[in-house]
Amino acid sequence: MKEKTKIKKVRRLSGETRVPGDKSISHRAAILGSIAEGTTRIKSFADGDDCNQTLKAFRLMGMRIGRRRESSTVEIYGRGLHGLREPDGIIDVGNSGTSIRLLTGLLSAQPFFSVLSGDSSVRSRPMKRVVEPLRKMGAQIGGREQSNKAPLAIQGSSLTGINYDSPIPSAQVKSALLLAGLYAQGHTEIREPLPSRDHTERMLEVFGARIEAEKGATRISRTEGLKAQEIDVPGDLSSAAFFLVAGLITKDSEVNIKGVGINQTRNGIIEILKQMGGDLRLDNVQEISGEPRADITVRSSKLRGVKIDGELVVRSIDELPIICGAAALAEGETIIQGAGELRVKETDRIRAMANELIRFGVKAEEYPEGIRIIGMQRLKGSTCFSYGDHRIAMTLAILGLVTEGKTIVVDTSCIKSSFPGFWEVLDKLAG
Ligand code: S3P
Repeated sequence: MKEKTKIKKVRRLSGETRVPGDKSISHRAAILGSIAEGTTRIKSFADGDDCNQTLKAFRLMGMRIGRRRESSTVEIYGRGLHGLREPDGIIDVGNSGTSIRLLTGLLSAQPFFSVLSGDSSVRSRPMKRVVEPLRKMGAQIGGREQSNKAPLAIQGSSLTGINYDSPIPSAQVKSALLLAGLYAQGHTEIREPLPSRDHTERMLEVFGARIEAEKGATRISRTEGLKAQEIDVPGDLSSAAFFLVAGLITKDSEVNIKGVGINQTRNGIIEILKQMGGDLRLDNVQEISGEPRADITVRSSKLRGVKIDGELVVRSIDELPIICGAAALAEGETIIQGAGELRVKETDRIRAMANELIRFGVKAEEYPEGIRIIGMQRLKGSTCFSYGDHRIAMTLAILGLVTEGKTIVVDTSCIKSSFPGFWEVLDKLAG
C-alpha cells in the first residue's frame, strides 16, 4: 500500500529551522573519506536513505564506519586509496543516482569485481553517460541494454587518463571521471557545455588531490594518497528550497533557515525566486570545509512568472519542481526551457509536474525540454501523485498548504530518501 498524506491549509508559517546536511556533499565526503588515510569525521552528514546507501556500499567493501545519530556525525576509518575489498554481494544503491554513477567511476579503478544495482527508478536511468567515457579510460563495465542500464558489472582494471568533452553538463559524469582519474595514468580532463556543481572538485582539493579548473575544463592527476579530514556539511539548499517557497507563498509568513549551502553552481533558485519578486535575505555568509553557507530568510511575497533557461537551469536543476510549484501561484506565465535532463531524474519531472499541476486547476503544458505554467490566484484541492519521487512529493505537499479544500499526496514514503524530518519541520513552522 502506498503511503498517503493529507495536507491541511495553513494560516501562516513562521520561525527558524535547519535542514539536513547537503546530500551531494555528504556522498562525496563518504567516498573520499573511505579512500583517504586516517579518520575522516563528517558533521551534519545527510541522514536520508540515499547517503545511507553510499555508507552501506563502503561497509560492504570492508570499511569500518561509525555513526552518532544525535549529532548526525559519521566517522570513517579510511584505509587509503587501495584499502577497499571486493564486495561479496551486489551493491544496492536504492534510489540514489549519485551513488551509482560516482561509484561506477571509483570501482572501475579497483583491482576487483563488483556489481552495482538499485531500485526500479535507478534501474531505468541512463548509465551510458558514465560507462562510455570510463571505457575510453580502459574500464571494463557491462550492463543491461548495451550497458546503459543497471545492474552494472565492473571488472576493475588499470586506467589511463583522457580528455573528455561531455555532451551534457552533469556533475555525476564529471565526478565519476574525476574519481577514476585519481587512479589513472597521467591526467584526466573534462569539459562541460555549462558548469555543473563543483562539490567534488572542492572536496578533492580539501583532501589533498592535485586538481585544477581552468576555462571550463577540470583536470586531475593521478594521486599518491588523500589525507583524512574533518568535514562540516552545510544544510542542503535543495531541501531548504521547499520551505523557502512555502514561506513566500503562504500569507503573513517569515521563515529563517540556518546554515544553508549557497555554492554558486547550485544557487540558481535564490536568483530565480528573487526574479519572481520573492523577499529573500542572506545573512551570516561564511565558508566552512571549502563550501559557502548562509542563513536565509524569506517573507510572504507576491510572485510573478519568469523565463528560465541556460545556466540557470543547470544551477537549479533539482529545485525546478518546487520552482514549478511557485510558478503555479505567480502572476502570469513561467517558461522553463533547456531542461530535458528533468525527464531522466528519479522520475520524468516535466511530465509529473505538468500532470499534477493540472489536478490543482493550473494550466500547465509540457515541452520536450521544458514546461509552461500559467499562475493562478487559488489552487483547488486534489488527490495527487508523487511518482515515487521525493522532490515531487514535497512540492505537492507545499502546494497543499495554500490550497482550498482537501489535498492528498499519494506515495510520500519516498521523502525519506533526502529529507526524513520534512513533516516535523513543516509542523514546527506551521505552529
Ligand atoms: C548530483 C548531480 C545532479 C543532480 C543530482 C545530484 C550530484 O545530477 O541532479 O540530484 O550530486 O552530483 P546530474 O549529474 O545528472 O546533472
